[in-house]
Amino acid sequence: MEFFQAIGRRYSQKKAFDPARGVPAEDLQSIVQAGMAAPSAGNGQSPEFIIVNDEATVRKIGDISQWVPLQTAPAVILVLSHPHMRQTLDSHTECLIGDAMVATENMLLACTALGYCCGLVDGPFLKPEVQRGVCELLGIPDDRIIFISVPVGYPAEPEPHRPKKPFAQRASWNKYEIER
Ligand SMILES: Cc1cc2nc3c(=O)[nH]c(=O)nc-3n(C[C@H](O)[C@H](O)[C@H](O)COP(=O)(O)O)c2cc1C
Repeated sequence: MEFFQAIGRRYSQKKAFDPARGVPAEDLQSIVQAGMAAPSAGNGQSPEFIIVNDEATVRKIGDISQWVPLQTAPAVILVLSHPHMRQTLDSHTECLIGDAMVATENMLLACTALGYCCGLVDGPFLKPEVQRGVCELLGIPDDRIIFISVPVGYPAEPEPHRPKKPFAQRASWNKYEIER
């Protein structure tokens, strides 16, 4: 798929995935490699990734999170970072968040370019019991947190694209003339 076509086609799947249509491991690896190719502050490459494609484990993550996309997706990629990002608001935190977000966007575009739909889900992992439950399930050590999850697959119910604001309401040329 052409690059700008992938950007235009990406959307967040918030309804159910089709659990019967899996994603080959080599595609999941390509998606994560796209995440690893992203820029990072000082080239620190802080995000780590766990690819969960074992059906029973994905379903357990769905049970713990109680989030429809995670309950139905055939595979979920977890983006891990450091607990520091939730403890102090400083420049290190900014770098950790930035690193994780740009890696995640690369993966969302890679998913779309390969013909899959995907989502960006952090909400459930903000709940301590979900964070703890999934970390225990996957053996994630105490000095890491699950920051974001990316469910990947095919939609059971396709969703319409969410509208984006017009260009002039978000950008201007040479000086601040953004329509508000
Ligand atoms: C920082 C961030 C956190 C998000 N967290 C969630 C989430 O927890 N659950 C979810 O369904 N979508 C989440 N999203 C996806 C947004 O809801 C989605 O990007 C937005 O509604 C625009 O829709 P689109 O991605 O289809 O263009 C998140 C997006 C961002 C950038």
